[in-house]
Amino acid sequence: TDRSLLILPGDGIGPEVMAEVRKVIDWFGTRGISFTVTEDLVGGAAYDAHGTPLTDATMAKAQEVDAVLLGAVGGPKYDVLDFSVKPERGLLRLRKEMDLYANLRPAQCFDALADFSSLKKDVVAGLDIMIVRELTSGVYFGEPRGIIKEGNERVGINTQRYTESEIARVARSAFELARRRGNKVCSMEKANVMESGVLWRQVVQEVRDAEYPDVELSHMYADAGAMQLTRWPKQFDVIVTDNLFGDLLSDLAAMLTGSLGMLPSASLGAPMENGRPKALYEPVHGSAPDIAGQGKANPIACILSFAMALRYSFDLGSEAERLEHAVNAVLADGLRTADLMGPEGGTPISTAQMGDAIVA
Ligand code: NAI
Ligand code: MG
Repeated sequence: TDRSLLILPGDGIGPEVMAEVRKVIDWFGTRGISFTVTEDLVGGAAYDAHGTPLTDATMAKAQEVDAVLLGAVGGPKYDVLDFSVKPERGLLRLRKEMDLYANLRPAQCFDALADFSSLKKDVVAGLDIMIVRELTSGVYFGEPRGIIKEGNERVGINTQRYTESEIARVARSAFELARRRGNKVCSMEKANVMESGVLWRQVVQEVRDAEYPDVELSHMYADAGAMQLTRWPKQFDVIVTDNLFGDLLSDLAAMLTGSLGMLPSASLGAPMENGRPKALYEPVHGSAPDIAGQGKANPIACILSFAMALRYSFDLGSEAERLEHAVNAVLADGLRTADLMGPEGGTPISTAQMGDAIVA
């Protein structure tokens, strides 16, 4: 087929939730929508087999395919390893070498889970927003950095640094997304106190005026944005922000709607020759060693990550919607994995039962 997918299940519950995604992929195959799938090792699993959390061969494969789908990496067994071969390094290498600069974190409320939020039901019901976080630059990477001695004191230093091309490319990602959604972008920075924030605001506005005049753009200070996100999140469609603010705001937005077991993500880079962006899809959660091997993991975050792949890598928007509707229907039927059980309790279903129900 002309749709290639590299699957990296990883560690802990990664392989368990990925097995359920395979059922979904197989179902689409029986409906004439097929993918050329290769599977490989990443993280601790790759370390056990090859002594490295990501082999050069796997890295090369990741660069060739249309999309990479990753489960999770890490686990207590690997905590003693040297930093250079820790499972997380496999994931970091993928993100870095694929140059995935736009991290997409949706916050979407499934009707059946509206009661599950810590916020009032009418604040989150029907919520569907997307945070676009710049992922490869900013204060986590800026130089100079380090802990230096200044007189008798130690000083911890990090540098926030953004070039205009780094800002412009992630702004384009946000505007492109907005066109497929509610056509509205809110850019968040701290232009009141940061030079990089002043430049951020200017460049986002310039890109909008020159290339996306049809998209509505507003600007907000990131601290006010945090307040507005919890006060009335439905005012937003797409939010674009830098690496640090995006880290915080995307975690905040994620919890508006509930469980870690429900949250997908995508990290996109520049378009490849075939027009598709470099892309890595993964659930937000980790390898959950506390429940690994017990059939308790919720596969929905990973299944929804595949739905994002359908939409953003393969232009299969209606298939993605169909999959999301299936998830919603299953939840509406009252089926719940253990992580989705409220205080009133009930009988949870297993990882495999959840996957089967979604396919059915
Ligand atoms: P975690 O996300 O693995 O687990 C946090 C809590 O949420 C646990 O109680 C877990 O059981 C629960 N949980 C997570 N996903 C779930 C799911 N799909 N269904 C039901 N419950 C779920 O984060 P934690 O415990 O901080 O880290 C565990 C390991 O995962 C560590 O080695 C960490 O480095 C790694 N990790 C890997 C990530 C990745 O691969 N992208 C991201 C975060 C952590
Ligand atoms: Mg974070």
